[in-house]
Amino acid sequence: MPLVDKEFIKTNLTAGDPWCRGHGSEQDSEDLGAGMLYYALAYGYKAKTCVCLGSGGGFVPRMMRQAQRDLNLIDSRTMLVDGTLQVSKEKKQIWGEPCWVPEDSVFRTNYPEVEIHLELTEDAFRNYFQPNNVQIDYLHIDADHHYEGVKLDWDLYSTLVPDDGIITLHDTTNYRNPCGVYLLMDDIRNSGDYEMINFPIAYGTAVLRKRQNDGRPGS
Ligand SMILES: C[S@@+](CC[C@H](N)C(=O)[O-])C[C@H]1O[C@@H](n2cnc3c(N)ncnc32)[C@H](O)[C@@H]1O
Repeated sequence: MPLVDKEFIKTNLTAGDPWCRGHGSEQDSEDLGAGMLYYALAYGYKAKTCVCLGSGGGFVPRMMRQAQRDLNLIDSRTMLVDGTLQVSKEKKQIWGEPCWVPEDSVFRTNYPEVEIHLELTEDAFRNYFQPNNVQIDYLHIDADHHYEGVKLDWDLYSTLVPDDGIITLHDTTNYRNPCGVYLLMDDIRNSGDYEMINFPIAYGTAVLRKRQNDGRPGS
């Protein structure tokens, strides 16, 4: 028996999402590309609270939620924050806008329990995440890709991820101006506070975790 159900992938996970191409998949494809990584991280870590900042087609939140569903993870939540209408016209022209906003979109129909915050990431942080003291087990950052934008998301939301939590960044191998995710990665690398592996799948996904001792006595 195969581990993955190709028909299910095609009809539920990549359906109606042209943006999953940036993750090494394709719309309506049976191949999940880096989607496997998002799924594996949420699954392996049994991440109860997953948060995705920015999504063109809902691919990453689908993978996060699917892992929680497959684990029957009680009290688990996946949240998506996307500013859509509040994102400036200039930025929309560069970074695109989501295709899942209608309630009958493939993403929202198949994953209605994903909690959606239609707000700029900074507003959602100040209005919801910070006052509710939300702890994020797995955070994915994929909203404003300008250096200042992705840095702001990192500075705000990484504070909600505990030391053993996981963070992924997207567009890490996109060096075209004005994409500044790789510059943020330089900052993080230079701080020495995080371990990081950058996977060059499509536009690139980096997996980060706070540097920590490995649990050996005396380490
Ligand atoms: C189109 S996605 C990029 C494609 C992405 N790699 C994917 O997997 O779909 C970028 C998203 O971030 C959102 N966005 C950009 N800046 C934002 C901000 N400051 N706050 C919230 N959402 C933002 C946009 O509305 C857009 O949907």
